[in-house]
Amino acid sequence: MIDQRLLPNEEVYNLYQSHEQVADAIRSMVIRGAPAIGVAAAMGIALGVRNLRNLSGTELDSRFEAICQLLAQTRPTAVNLFWAINRMRRVYDANKHHPLPEIKELLQQEAIQVYQEDITVNRRIGDHGQALLPNQATVLTHCNAGALATAGFGTALGVIRAAVNAGKSIRVLADETRPFLQGARLTAWELMKDNIPVALITDSMAGHVMKTEEVQAVIVGADRVAANGDVANKIGTYTVAVLAKAHRIPFYVAAPMSTIDFNTATGADIPIEQRSEQEVLELNGKRIAPDCVTARNPAFDVTPAEYVSAIITENGVARPPYAASLRALAKSCVS
Ligand code: MRU
Repeated sequence: MIDQRLLPNEEVYNLYQSHEQVADAIRSMVIRGAPAIGVAAAMGIALGVRNLRNLSGTELDSRFEAICQLLAQTRPTAVNLFWAINRMRRVYDANKHHPLPEIKELLQQEAIQVYQEDITVNRRIGDHGQALLPNQATVLTHCNAGALATAGFGTALGVIRAAVNAGKSIRVLADETRPFLQGARLTAWELMKDNIPVALITDSMAGHVMKTEEVQAVIVGADRVAANGDVANKIGTYTVAVLAKAHRIPFYVAAPMSTIDFNTATGADIPIEQRSEQEVLELNGKRIAPDCVTARNPAFDVTPAEYVSAIITENGVARPPYAASLRALAKSCVS
């Protein structure tokens, strides 16, 4: 894995040999972004089982469950993590009576498939989403929903990449995304590498640029979309969505179907990760607030469905009312 905490200053790749190391990498944000942590969890499970020796029956079952549990406890909000773990569980359950070497092989194949499918899915999201962006557009994005946050190509940034590939001229305004700075460090880095024009803004500039510049669209990713279309995404997304509505700018969410959680009725039921105060109180390891002051650090917020103009998936584009349109997309086959 590329260590995303060190970007853009250093490009360091870490090699992991155990599921414990993969769980640590997810928890500490070496790897982040909903689809990417799903892929990492699938690979972590394959790795965990690969390290087991001479086990079968209930002993193997409980070791497998412990591996899944450790990965499930890393981060609570992105449903892709649980989706990927369940996918690995299904393969295990269907094959658990086979010899261990065979189970290892099947789990490894499934993890690689989760990885490869995500790239295909992102390309389809890009194809569906790029049609919504006009030529000569300025697009505002929040956090990083790019290649780094997925197996490749990206969801929100995939739509932008697909629009550029279709010959459109797109300029991006990237919110820096305090406190972890995914926008400044990661989105700006990715887009610069692809020669897509990008200007960085602080989160507090979003309203001003919407008012004073032509912004044709806002596009973001998602960590979990509830059955009614409420969207959990990086903290600050809700603010951007409200601002977009006030300025009559379409607010698009690009996410794979694995991010849609039909078991979660509304955004109020989505668990919001609370991260360390330190991330808010410090910048580059240096304290920026008085010694005794405390801080809050919810890592995600929920944007109510009424602010979302469309949800772009690999199966097509859902429009309000989302309860019906998301269900319809879930039933439709990927063509
Ligand atoms: O805390 P992070 O960096 O994992 O949060 C990431 C986001 O909020 C992304 O927008 C979301 O996961 C979509 S990534 C395609």
